[in-house]
Formats: sequence, structure tokens, C-alpha cells
Amino acid sequence: MGYYIGIDLGTSGVKALLMDAAQNPIAEATAPLTVQRPKPGWSEQGPGDWIAAAVAVMDDIAARHPDCLAALRGIGLSGQMHGATILGRDDIPLRPAILWNDGRSVDACRVLDDRADFRGIGGNLVMPGFTAPKIEWLRGHEPDVFDRISKILLPKDYLRLTLTGDHISDMSDSAGTLWLDVGGRDWSPDLLAATGLTRAQMPDLVEGTAPGGVLRSDLAARWGIKRAPVVAGGGGDNAASAVAVGAVEPGTGFLSLGTSGVLFASGAAFAPNTDHAAHAFCHAVPDTWHQMGVILAATDALNWLSAISRTGPAELAGLAANAPADHGVIALPYLSGERTPHNTAAPQGAFAGLGQSTDLGVLARAMMEAVGFAFADCTRVLQATGNSLGPVVALGGGAQSHFWLQTIASITGLTLQIPDKGAFGAAFGAARLAIVAAGDSSVTETITPIPIAREIAPQSAEQERLGAAYARFQATYPALTAALT
Ligand code: XUL
Repeated sequence: MGYYIGIDLGTSGVKALLMDAAQNPIAEATAPLTVQRPKPGWSEQGPGDWIAAAVAVMDDIAARHPDCLAALRGIGLSGQMHGATILGRDDIPLRPAILWNDGRSVDACRVLDDRADFRGIGGNLVMPGFTAPKIEWLRGHEPDVFDRISKILLPKDYLRLTLTGDHISDMSDSAGTLWLDVGGRDWSPDLLAATGLTRAQMPDLVEGTAPGGVLRSDLAARWGIKRAPVVAGGGGDNAASAVAVGAVEPGTGFLSLGTSGVLFASGAAFAPNTDHAAHAFCHAVPDTWHQMGVILAATDALNWLSAISRTGPAELAGLAANAPADHGVIALPYLSGERTPHNTAAPQGAFAGLGQSTDLGVLARAMMEAVGFAFADCTRVLQATGNSLGPVVALGGGAQSHFWLQTIASITGLTLQIPDKGAFGAAFGAARLAIVAAGDSSVTETITPIPIAREIAPQSAEQERLGAAYARFQATYPALTAALT
């Protein structure tokens, strides 16, 4: 029997998952990562910390399951998207990586948007989260570093470089750089030139299901692997999560209620909607694309309230469920700015309509509803591109709260599916991609929809009240923006 490992290089930690050829999870290992914020709005990590964490999780699994590792056939990689890992000659990082949730490049976004057809070719608005504006910022602020760039890699591809010695990326993650011709699935010379770069500074491209290097023999020996396994192209963490739940057919997708919130919809064609900051990227399987609405603070918004009120998130969710439905408070969850639909880096979280009877439970309920309204915005934006979203799989830490999911279903009109066997994260998707890349099974046999335990449908009794509150939420954002800027 062959075995496969998926490694997900997340923002808060690296996770590895070992599975067998029947996709039974056998073991997991995690190692934490921290984010450095040297200036307000900045978010960085040292690439060396990623490697130390990835080696630690692999060492751990190899020590616990030597027989499985001996027969390892493939490794799949997934990772936090967009992070600019800037390498000089000899592949040494020239500075800490600038991450997806770093907001320093707002001015660079405007410059790039005017300079080339990022919307048409890249399929996306130039937003500070993406890689290209980070490099434009670097060109202006750290020109000596810019001049020494030999290669720019995404986080999981820097890990691949360490594992295989190759500069390779996959389509789904590369789409998030904004240098990819997303429809043509190749680097765009125009978009690279707009940032002062050439194809020589980019990695080679493969599909997520294709081989993307072979594990170095010294590492294979360290982990007791008999024949050096293939490393799959892999995917950005969102595409890999979609692969994990089997969302590759048009109209399928997931709603992730994690630190950030994501509404993900697969499609058979490249279908951008840049006016409202929808993301249009390649999927991790060939001839497939996807769209996403991204909310920068989802559980993060409740965690903020939890921290300042010294009340655990689960307790807060309980208070919210018992708070009166007609509380009349409108919250904005934009503590870190917002991507879809506003594209703003300015923090604009808010509570409006507080009264003498407003207590912590009401604030929590209003913030959970606000995240639901933000998902309604994403739903509207994706549907405007012609995407007919069917039921979507609910993922992420916030999906533990039935009350929150029910609220989101009623607000968005989406039916949410709860997986039978708990969380199927990006590492599971990456391991699925490894099975295909190893040549051991086809895409259609491997990337199947996961079993669903139950569905949460919109509740018509709630929809009228929440619909009226959504209209007030939509009016509050422009009114507050006008007042505060
Ligand atoms: C997607 C995005 C985030 C990161 C989180 O565009 O920025 O979902 O991928 O890891």
C-alpha cells in the first residue's frame, strides 16, 4: 500500500497529514508559527521559520509511522497565498516574507492598476494582499533589495525549493501573485514588466495535480523513505481546501468561517468581477478556475470582542444565541479593512445603534450577524458573475457554532453542508493532489465530494428581519466612511 503526505504552510502554523491510498487519515502533526508586525499594518514571517516548522512536523510523523514513511509515494503542498518570499543569488531570502494580510502597499496598488491591464489579464483588482503590489512597494522603499532579486516565490514554493531544489509553482497559488495571465495559465510578460520584473525571476509553472519536483535524497533518507517521492504542484490554501471537500465541479464550493472568511465557488471558465473585488483565480486542477469573496476578519472579529471583554469565543457565541433578535444594533466587521466588496485597507470596524440595554450578548450577536452580512455581500458579488451557487460546505473554526451557521444561511440564502467527519483542511487536499501527481489515481477518482452529515438551510421566519438589517448594514458603511474620512 502507498502513502501520501499533505503539508499545509499556514499563517499560524504548519500542519502535515499522512493518509493511505484509500484516503484514510493516519496521522497529523502541527508546529506553530508567529507573525511579526514591525510597523502598524505590516505582517511578516521569516522563511527559515517555515522550514524549521515543516521539518519538525515531518520528523514527528516519520518517528511515529516509519513503516508508512518507508512506502511514501507522494507529498502535496498547500500554503497561505500571496506572501512575497524574495530570494537573492544562491536562493537566500533577502528579507522577511511580506504576508497576505500586510497592508503597506495601498499606494503601490493604485500605481500598478494604472500601469497595466491587471484587471483584464490578472482577473483581479490590484489589492494590497496580493504579491505584485508588495514588490512595487519594495521597489520604492527598499531599492537595494529590489535590485538583488533573483527569484520571487510563494510560501509553499519556498518550502518546495528546500524539499526538492526546484523553483516551481502551481497555477492556483500563482494566480494570487497578479503576474499570471489567469485565463491563459501562464506568466504575463506585461504584468511582470509593470512591476519591473521578468519571467526569469519567476518559478516554472505546473498544474496542481502534476509532479512539481522530487524529494531530495538526503531528506528522503532522513525520514526513512525508500524511494524519493514526487512533490505535487499543490495549491494555494483555498484551492487545496476545495480539493479537500471535492469542490471542483462548476457551482460547488465552500464557505470558510476562519480567521478570515472565504466564499469559494468553482467554475469551468475564467470569470472575473473586478468592480466589487471578487477574486478570480485558477483552480488546483487543470481547465478549472474559481472565484472567491474574501472577508479579512471573520472569527477574528469575534476574537477581538472576546479579547477585550475577557470572555472566551465559545461563551460569547452562547451569549449571542440568547440575546434578543430585535436588538437593533448594526456592526461592521472591518477591523482589518476589507477585500470583497470594498477593497479598503483602512480599519473601519464599528457598532452603531447602541442603547442602554445593549449588553455583551447583543454586541456578539451583532458582530456575528455582521460577518453574515459580509458573506451576503460575497454571495451577491459571485452571483453577479453568473455563478449559480448550490449548497456549499461549511469549514473553519467558526463552523463549530450552529447558531452562527444558521444565521449565515438565513442571511445569504445559501444552504450550508456540514461534513460527516469533521474538518477536511487544506493538508488533506494537498495529500489528494499528491495521489494524482504520483500517477496512482485520476482526478475524478481522487477528488470526490466528501460525505455530508447534515444541511443547514435558510430559515424563512428569520429572513425578513435579517434582510432589513442587511439593508441597514449596507447603508452604514458608506455613511461611516463619509463621516470618518
Ligand atoms: C486569499 C487569502 C487568504 C490566505 C490565507 O486570497 O489572502 O485566504 O490564503 O492563508
